[in-house]
Amino acid sequence: MDSKIAVLPGDGIGPEVIGQALKVLNAIADRFNHQFTYSYGDVGGVAIDKTGSPLPDETLNTLLNSDAVLFGAIGDPKYDNDPTAKVRPEQGLLGMRKALGLFCNIRPVTIFENLRHLSPIKESYLKGVDMVIYRELIGGIYFGPKGRSEDNTSAYDTCVYKVAEIERIAHLAFQQAGNRRKKVTLIDKANVLESSRLWREHVQIISKDYPEIETDYMFVDNAAMQMIINPAQFDVILTSNMFGDIISDESSVLVGSLGLLPSASIGSATSVFEPIHGSYPQGAGKDIANPVATVLSAGLLLDHLGLVEEGNLVRGAVSRLLEAGLGTPDLQGLTKISCSKAGDYLEALVSDDDLVLDAEKLGESSSTII
Ligand code: IPM
Ligand code: MN
Repeated sequence: MDSKIAVLPGDGIGPEVIGQALKVLNAIADRFNHQFTYSYGDVGGVAIDKTGSPLPDETLNTLLNSDAVLFGAIGDPKYDNDPTAKVRPEQGLLGMRKALGLFCNIRPVTIFENLRHLSPIKESYLKGVDMVIYRELIGGIYFGPKGRSEDNTSAYDTCVYKVAEIERIAHLAFQQAGNRRKKVTLIDKANVLESSRLWREHVQIISKDYPEIETDYMFVDNAAMQMIINPAQFDVILTSNMFGDIISDESSVLVGSLGLLPSASIGSATSVFEPIHGSYPQGAGKDIANPVATVLSAGLLLDHLGLVEEGNLVRGAVSRLLEAGLGTPDLQGLTKISCSKAGDYLEALVSDDDLVLDAEKLGESSSTII
């Protein structure tokens, strides 16, 4: 298969984790005789430094002319500490989501058996955890009218949702539940927010089209607690942009590290695949970032191209690496390897089904090359 893949490494650890995902994609291309053509683009802080814009037109054109996008991370502390900055790296990510109409962000949360001990949550609570979060991505408080009063003594952000925006993602969530454990949990704040009441009203209506799916409704404060005390109850979570942002970071604690969770953002134009973590500027350039979330995102990209066998191979390689007891420093308790080594091993694993890694030989202290 010939596919055009846009690659946006972005800021911080973005280029490092993207580098590892590309090793894996290239190994897949070799093994299955696919032709992946990569076009690189700037986004976020690096794009501001080069062009003044967090999402240059050139980048946007590249995205629109690709079959899929692999995205690293954006964000730079020099902007975080300057709340008056007019241009911010995040505008690149948010602008891309809006421009590509990426209304549905899918964040699967799967526990790796041998990493259970890494989670601060009691192992008994993690039994049966397997959920996927459907986060609305281009509406709500992220994109509603916002501003400051003229005298600069007040500021506002508005949460607006249209029925059509709720319906399109709700249908996708219910359809996905049909392929899984047949349960959708809508997370909202319908006891307080009018926009949440609109979600609840229309999700109730849509649920009637899916009689085989159980629909549950949960306030976000309770959901934040349930995510810790009874996470196995969730199958498909459906929620708005802001609540999905928060709940999905929380869910990563179950898995053991934010560096393990991938995501797919789908919509009206090219789809984007990106880790859920940020740019981790303190870790940039140190070869310590966990590339697994980005590699798994590349796996979702392959699924999206219709290459499901290839996607499964990528997921299998990640499991084999972690089961061998090898991981980046965020996975405490595993034999420590660097980001680039993790990429090398994953590349080798997708190329060779029989390869078994030996953590004792391959840890950081050893220079053995497989
Ligand atoms: C995410 C990130 C982004 C978001 C930031 C970087 C704008 O946290 O993808 O979850 O809030 O959506
Ligand atoms: Mn987030």
